[in-house]
Amino acid sequence: MKRISDIFPGLVSAIKREAATVGSKGTAHDFIHDCTVAGYCLLLDSSERGQLAAAAALCHSTDRRFPVDSVRQRLVRVKSYLLTASRLDDVARNVVIDAVINHDKPNDPDDSNVLVILKDADRLGNLGLVAALRCAQLHHDLPTFDPRFVSRPDPCATYESPLTVLHDVRSALEWDPREGKGRYCLRLPRAVQLGIPYFDWLKAGLVLIRQQIEETSIRSAPVVGQVSRSSKSPRRVSPGQRTGPRRRDEIRRR
Ligand SMILES: [Fe+2]
Repeated sequence: MKRISDIFPGLVSAIKREAATVGSKGTAHDFIHDCTVAGYCLLLDSSERGQLAAAAALCHSTDRRFPVDSVRQRLVRVKSYLLTASRLDDVARNVVIDAVINHDKPNDPDDSNVLVILKDADRLGNLGLVAALRCAQLHHDLPTFDPRFVSRPDPCATYESPLTVLHDVRSALEWDPREGKGRYCLRLPRAVQLGIPYFDWLKAGLVLIRQQIEETSIRSAPVVGQVSRSSKSPRRVSPGQRTGPRRRDEIRRR
């Protein structure tokens, strides 16, 4: 399989420079994430479609690095990367831009093939221990977890206000098609195959947390550091600093 740096060397360099200017600490959208998602795109589809999705993956975090940018500014930024650092023609470039702009929205039957690949690859790139570490880095001001909400999600927590790091981490289970048919589930059979070990790892981790709670009898321990149980509590993070495409029917800003 070709590597992303073999296919789009100029684009890889351009995005690497951009990431370096912003820095990765606390953004949860570092250059490694972009390359991981691009690698998954090529793994899911090695044809031209997968390569276009990989180009979009390289550009998909610009909204996170520049959260105050408008959609128009994002368009200009991504377009300039593709014009100066890739050899894509107009048609291919527009397909890539569409995928970049729409990658954080819920699954839609009208998604292009390239966008389907990118959405699944982005979810795969937000699974596993590294993604959990990024969640913790991003939400370093939140409690790690609430002993009452391990097996099930905290009903007061939301994507915008997760209340604990664990809530954000366990939200990835919404991408597991075995858990239901939500609008953020993985769609490509190969993506599901690749994702299952990570979903199972996360579920096993939750079981062990439950076991540790029972072993140490901390079930009723107060959660230190939590400011409010209300879902209307103030937002903790910039909308441009999320870790991955999640749920809800609003546009994700990931
Ligand atoms: Fe991403």
